[in-house]
Order: sequence, then C-alpha cells, then structure tokens
Amino acid sequence: MALLLKNAHIVDPAAGLDGVADVLVEGERIARVGENLDAADAEVIDLAGKYLVPGLVDMHVHLREPGYEHKEDIESGTRAAAHGGFTGVCSMPNTDPVTDNGVTIEYVKSVAAAKGHCRVFPSGAMTKGLKGEIISEMGDMVAHGCVAFTDDGRGIQGAGMLRRAMDYGKMFGKVFMSHCQDEDLVGDGQVNEGAVSTRLGLLGWPAAGEELQISRDIAIAELTGAKLHIQHISTAHGVELVREAKAKGLPVTCEATPHHMFLTEDAIDGTYNTSLKVNPPLRTAADAEAVIAGVIDGTVDAIVTDHAPHADWEKAREFELAPFGMIGLETSLGLVYTNLVKTGKISLARMVELMAIGPRRILGVEPVSIAAGSLADITVFDPEATWTVTADGFESQAKNSGFIGASITGRATDVFVGGVATMRDGVVC
Ligand code: DOR
Ligand code: ZN
Repeated sequence: MALLLKNAHIVDPAAGLDGVADVLVEGERIARVGENLDAADAEVIDLAGKYLVPGLVDMHVHLREPGYEHKEDIESGTRAAAHGGFTGVCSMPNTDPVTDNGVTIEYVKSVAAAKGHCRVFPSGAMTKGLKGEIISEMGDMVAHGCVAFTDDGRGIQGAGMLRRAMDYGKMFGKVFMSHCQDEDLVGDGQVNEGAVSTRLGLLGWPAAGEELQISRDIAIAELTGAKLHIQHISTAHGVELVREAKAKGLPVTCEATPHHMFLTEDAIDGTYNTSLKVNPPLRTAADAEAVIAGVIDGTVDAIVTDHAPHADWEKAREFELAPFGMIGLETSLGLVYTNLVKTGKISLARMVELMAIGPRRILGVEPVSIAAGSLADITVFDPEATWTVTADGFESQAKNSGFIGASITGRATDVFVGGVATMRDGVVC
C-alpha cells in the first residue's frame, strides 16, 4: 500500500528543501513531494511538528556477527540502529572469522537480509585476519557487495603493506578506511597521554600515535591515488592534517564520533568507568573543540558512532583489562541535535550532510534524497522530545554507553527503509 507522510518539516540540502510538505511513497521509492498531497487508499501518517530527513547512515558500526554474538548480533545491532533513527549502517570486519573474503561478506549480507532492521553495507578487511601481513581477497569481497576496506580496530602497521593494499585494491574503486594507531608508540596505552593518565596511574595513549598514521596514510594516498577515509578522528592536529590534505585536493575524507566531540578525558575519574575506555581515547577539551570546528568548517565529512558493543562482564573488569569501545547508535542523533544543532553550531541541513549524505557518498552507495524517484529511506524525528539516557532504554544487546544519565533533546520516532517502516512512534517494527 502507498504511504502518505503528511505535514513534516522536510530538511534535505540535496533537494533544496527546508519547509513543511508531504511525501508520497509508492513501493520502495518516493513518488511525489509537495504541498497538500492526496492519494486515494494510501496509509496516511500525520507527522506535524516533526522533522523528516533523508535516512541516516552510520558508516562505522560493529555488529559483532559472526563470532561475538554475546556482545551484539546483526538482528540486535540493526534494531538499535533503527531505534536511533538509522536506515543503514556500514559493518566493521573485526568479526570471528574476520570478514576478509566473499563468503563472510555474503554471510553478513544474508543474515542482514533475513533479520536486519536496516540496510547493512558490509566493509571488508584490508588484510587477511587483520594481521597486516597479506592483502585480503578484495576482488572477491567487492563481487559480493563489500563497500569499503578497513582493518578497523587496528591500523596497518607497515607503510609498505598499506601501499601494496592501496595499489592493488584501488582498481575496485572503493574507499580505504584507516583506524590510525601506531602500535609501537601506543603500546598498552589506556587513556589519552597527559595529566589524566598521570593522575589515574594509567598508561598513556599519545595523540602522536594517531597523528603519525594519519600523516603517513595521507602520504600513501597521495602516492597511490587511492581514496582514503580517516576513521574516528580525535585530535586537533589530526583534523589539521586532513584539512591540509583537502586543501591540496587529495581524495581524503574523515569522520568524527559523538564521544570524541561531546566527552573528554576529564570524564574519566577515580570511578574508572570502563564505558569511557575507547579507542582512540577521549582526548582533551581542546581536541574535542577542534573536532567540532572541523565538523563546522567541512573538514569532517561524516558523523559516525563506532558503535562498539561489549557484554557487561567484559566491561566490569579492571580498567586495563576491559575492552575498548562504547555503543552509540541510539544516542547519536539526539546528541548531535542537542549539542550542535540546538546550540546553533551547525544547521539541520549540515547535520543531514554529516549523517545521511556524506556517509553514502564516501561509501559509494546509492544517494537518497527527499525527491521523486529516490529510494524511500527516511528518518523522522521529534525535535522537542526530551529524554534521559538510561541503561534499560537500549535496544542494543549491550549497555556500555558513556552517555548514561545525559539529558538529550531530539529523538527519532519513525523510520522507513525502502518504504517499509522499521520504527513507528518510537517502537521498532
Ligand atoms: O573503541 C573501539 N572499539 N575502537 C575500535 O577501533 C574498535 C572497537 C571495537 O571493536 O570494540
Ligand atoms: Zn577504530
């Protein structure tokens, strides 16, 4: 049945829309956008007071399947995505077995097709087993639908290895996404190296451990001509390096997470809250400000969550033994709306660029717009909804959010993927 979404405020810079209108969806695509639309026997949904935007995509998500289903699986992770307002996610390959060949890509796709609550665009490892030694089966993975290459969770340690992977893999036209971490320099670093690591007696993870690889990867992207995307950028100098690369016209993009923008190392105190242990670590307030400045001036191309679910018992350990990562899918939209849009730092149109348009462009997947003919991937959110983040409010199997207790304004209410509702009135379908 056709779907008539009425009276929402549509914001879509790609379509030049910023105002109240109706959207008629027929099958998986948008049939018409305009004022006072009518359609006999369409299901009508009144969205007055809500914003309607192109479906959000989170291009950095750990769904954990196959292999780590005790943390999250494709069903629960995509359920969390729908609950957070996302119509698509890019899954990370640090699964077990590692997603480094066509068979594992096919596995992720088939489980997502059977049980998923959003689109899943799988990324594949750059190197076999994420070991940084042998190039993965890139062509096979692309033939099966892999959208990007990354060894996320690790940086490629050898510059020559990255060069070979890019030289070989660039023929597939996909983006190379770098988790930048020089393992020799970072060692067992737990939190940002500086006053906080000293005060807490934890090994430091220096900003230079990230910046060295950002700088190196940009140089190798220039050498090879491959497309480079810097993942979860967290330092002021890192943002500056990307800004300079862009000014030179290099094919370099980057992403930032809500936790690196809205939390700092100062949140880690004598309670040693392991939900705040992330990789790269929470940095200084000056770093967070610089990342936000990059979001404002266009240096940052996408906001992502690095949704990294872990079981309670894995996080309930000594800080040094707990795994890195926090979940993010269900708080991202509200945090960005509260901290960046409501404060006037960015417009809602810029938020749409960062959370819907940019990620699809970088991943090279079909663009979505609120326009006739586009796929009907649509996110609707209530800009007035105020809520508090609680551990029992998540659809994710995991609870390891660093934002528990935060007050948020703005929450997704309705989500449609290819014209099919995946969330209605705040309830995941
Ligand atoms: O905090 C993180 N957790 N950063 C990563 O790069 C990997 C991720 C994970 O897989 O848990
Ligand atoms: Zn990473």
